[in-house]
Amino acid sequence: MIQDIVIYPDKRLKIVSKTVEQFDDSLHSLLDDMYDTMIAKNGVGLAAIQIGISERVLIVNVPIESDDEDESAQQPKENTLEVINPVITRKEGMVKFQEGCLSLPGVYEEVERYAEVTIEYQDRYGEKFLIENDEFLSIALQHEIDHLDGKVFIEKLSYIKRKKFEKEWKKTQK
Ligand code: CO
Repeated sequence: MIQDIVIYPDKRLKIVSKTVEQFDDSLHSLLDDMYDTMIAKNGVGLAAIQIGISERVLIVNVPIESDDEDESAQQPKENTLEVINPVITRKEGMVKFQEGCLSLPGVYEEVERYAEVTIEYQDRYGEKFLIENDEFLSIALQHEIDHLDGKVFIEKLSYIKRKKFEKEWKKTQK
């Protein structure tokens, strides 16, 4: 079911989310809602807190090339990476990338991230996995893991750019 997105500067976006201990039906329906919501809003990733649930759950779905007009055809559900309780165990190199966020619609800013990360996580059944990736997926995962720690990507901007952003954001929110 499509849920409302928590929009910046809602205080919930600052919550440090809790570790998931029950890999049950309610976790599965949370993950399903997150997918429906991400697709409806044309996102590539979503953290649970962005629909108001403070649990260490995130999803990423990198679109595939497709001529199909239907958005869900480019981001089929089976391609969704469901990441529970992620921990970054290795990070290497730095890379700049332009990011956006469903909690800050219309905002795109270049921020710096680790170029490569290794992440330990659990799937929806609690089974442990390791993901080693570079490029886009790695950046998307770091962005979503920041949400689990109560951080949004604009916090990585320089002081001057952040001030400029806050001023412009206030105008759009009126
Ligand atoms: Co985001």
